[in-house]
Amino acid sequence: MRYHLLSALAATAVAAAPAAPSESYDYIVVGSGPGGGPLAADLARAGYSTLLIEAGGDEGDNPTYADIANFNEAANDEMTRWDFWVKHSDDPEQDLKFEHTTWDTGDGTFYVGLDPPEGAKLLGIQYPRASVLGGCAMHNAGVCSMPADDDWNIIVEKTGDTSWSAENMRKYFKKIERNEYLAPGDDAHGYDGWLATSVADNSWAKDDSLPGTKILRKLAELTGQDPDQAADLVNRDILEVGDKVDETTSFYNMVTHADSKGKRSSPNNYVRATLADPAEYPLTVKLHTLVTRVLFDEASLANGSTPRAVGVEIMEGASLYKADPKHADGATGPVSQIRATREVIVSGGAFNSPQILKLSGIGPADELAKFNISVVKDLPGVGENLGDNYEGGVLALGAAPIDTGLITLLFRTPSAPTAKRNIYTWCGAFSFEGFWPGFPTYHGPTQYECAMVHLAPKSQAGSVRLVSADPQDRPEINFRFFEHGGDEDLAELVEAANLLRKAFQAAGDPVLPFDELHPCPGSAANRTCDDAAQAEYLKLQAYSHHATSTCSIGGDDEPLAVLDSKFRVRGVEGLRVVDASAFPVVPGAFPSCPTMMLSAKAAEDILAAAEETDKKRRRLFA
Ligand SMILES: Cc1cc2nc3c(=O)[nH]c(=O)nc-3n(C[C@H](O)[C@H](O)[C@H](O)COP(=O)(O)OP(=O)(O)OC[C@H]3O[C@@H](n4cnc5c(N)ncnc54)[C@H](O)[C@@H]3O)c2cc1C
Ligand SMILES: *[C@@H]1O[C@H](CO)[C@@H](O)[C@H](O)[C@H]1NC(C)=O
Ligand SMILES: *[C@@H]1O[C@H](CO)[C@@H](O)[C@H](O)[C@H]1NC(C)=O
Ligand SMILES: *[C@@H]1O[C@H](CO)[C@@H](O)[C@H](O)[C@H]1NC(C)=O
Repeated sequence: MRYHLLSALAATAVAAAPAAPSESYDYIVVGSGPGGGPLAADLARAGYSTLLIEAGGDEGDNPTYADIANFNEAANDEMTRWDFWVKHSDDPEQDLKFEHTTWDTGDGTFYVGLDPPEGAKLLGIQYPRASVLGGCAMHNAGVCSMPADDDWNIIVEKTGDTSWSAENMRKYFKKIERNEYLAPGDDAHGYDGWLATSVADNSWAKDDSLPGTKILRKLAELTGQDPDQAADLVNRDILEVGDKVDETTSFYNMVTHADSKGKRSSPNNYVRATLADPAEYPLTVKLHTLVTRVLFDEASLANGSTPRAVGVEIMEGASLYKADPKHADGATGPVSQIRATREVIVSGGAFNSPQILKLSGIGPADELAKFNISVVKDLPGVGENLGDNYEGGVLALGAAPIDTGLITLLFRTPSAPTAKRNIYTWCGAFSFEGFWPGFPTYHGPTQYECAMVHLAPKSQAGSVRLVSADPQDRPEINFRFFEHGGDEDLAELVEAANLLRKAFQAAGDPVLPFDELHPCPGSAANRTCDDAAQAEYLKLQAYSHHATSTCSIGGDDEPLAVLDSKFRVRGVEGLRVVDASAFPVVPGAFPSCPTMMLSAKAAEDILAAAEETDKKRRRLFA
């Protein structure tokens, strides 16, 4: 592997002024997740010298990451974990009711709960991210799902750029996919890409005597499907295309970005394959390197012309970011600069991309002024518009275990605002109640849950804001859940929970009675909660892990637009953002596959622009 560590000639930490740039590349990509990793590989494969900078290391061969079944261990692993401590609202009292609020006890351990020991310091609500080659696609569950067509088409409406149509976006999925679950020849799928997709064996559903199958059949009945078709529908392609897909309530087989042997497939594989390719593509990967800001051409800043990004400043070393649990107090590394002759692309994810822009002078002018950061471009939308799927689940303990596979269902609840489905649920013998150090809680062999992801949240009022000008500090993240249309979204979640709970009752002997843990505790015989109580529970306990939209693409007339439709940061040159922060709205139920599609599109857009530039240059020198 050609991983280049920084040369020993780089400036040392003691030197106040960074060394003058000694290295240069056509493109510099910051961050190797679903946004940046595939993009860097694509640019290098097109022949451009590309530097991919990643704060984390490479765990591609580590079974905790390589075997998709270990995703919970991966998300807890200190090797890669970045802990963000987020807020769900502006009301500290409300946030303190979150059952998995986390505290620092001061003796190197966490306290998780509502009754912290004396002297413990409040951290907040844990929001894990993976800092590693491949980004969060290295510790996620790998669930691959398409956004609703409208989630792409809204970009066409905002910007007039028809290349964002859902129909056109599908071609990027076909390009990157290596389908391992359908017979070759399905026109909606790709078979030669770098991203393996696979499904589970759902043959258990043919056995009507199993408690899990009884729940499945009841769910069919409750959602207007034929129970006798359920055993077939559980194999339906969840990535199918068609006019009415977004209005379809159906079972499906959950697709994951893993191969049929259970090996995770992520940008890590693609980057490594690109480095190892005998074609010797001009890709350089710097691991354990924190980008501290984007650099702009001094002359353009001085004479008032459009500022041009010309490189990045980096700090070299492992665990430099304070979200890293391995970070040692006061640790820094040598600072230096690297030049990009064509463009800089920021792909640090929904929390870090806006932070990097702000540290570079691009963001709300008043916020930058607070930290004495000179304004390169006043862009009030940077770090705003943060959105996420609301998540919860009906979790109960049976009188006996249920050991069938997962039921995956997309459905519409009665009060959904449009004809589109609004809940993605998966049911099985697991517990998923959000994130905290050491999650999830094992409630014993009889645990059974239907986890819910709510689609199209009506509020994206969250924000990522600086707490200092120190690039090693974490920003302040507040999701402001349910700020707009919250009662409606909570009502949809309660409708979903009520429906799922009814299906639990079909499990039969020996599983019944179920004793529900939440959102409506107790059994069918003794529970007392009403819809209002469930809504209150979900309002306080909803969690999320699909943050997007903090550097949103938008139209020329939108004050909070950060990017144009070609991912270009508005008001400057040579700078783009390509990752989950670019989506103007939360893209369906799971952002990982949509972000990789967006990355493939960005590669095409950037390469087209490069060709234009080269043509102009040729004309100039002809
Ligand atoms: C526990 C968990 C489970 C998930 N499960 C699923 C799932 O099953 N399906 C799904 O679709 N989505 C899932 N997601 C979400 C999904 O993985 C993310 O939405 C996706 O990875 C976002 O991609 P990204 O490129 O925007 O950012 P990221 O994946 O966050 O990648 C950003 C990268 O940039 C690097 N970086 C950041 N700042 C700097 C800097 N200053 N200098 C250098 N490098 C930097 C980081 O180290 C990181 O590697 C999950 C997320 C989590 C946390
Ligand atoms: C300002 O400086 C930039 C970079 O050197 C140059 O390209 C541009 O033409 C200059 N503009 C003016 C108005 O002088
Ligand atoms: C910003 O600069 C002013 C003037 O130099 C100084 O007084 C102030 O403390 C600085 N603020 C920060 C946050 O560094
Ligand atoms: C409700 O019923 C369940 C199942 O029988 C039982 O486990 C639980 O203890 C009961 N709860 C209350 C509050 O009585």
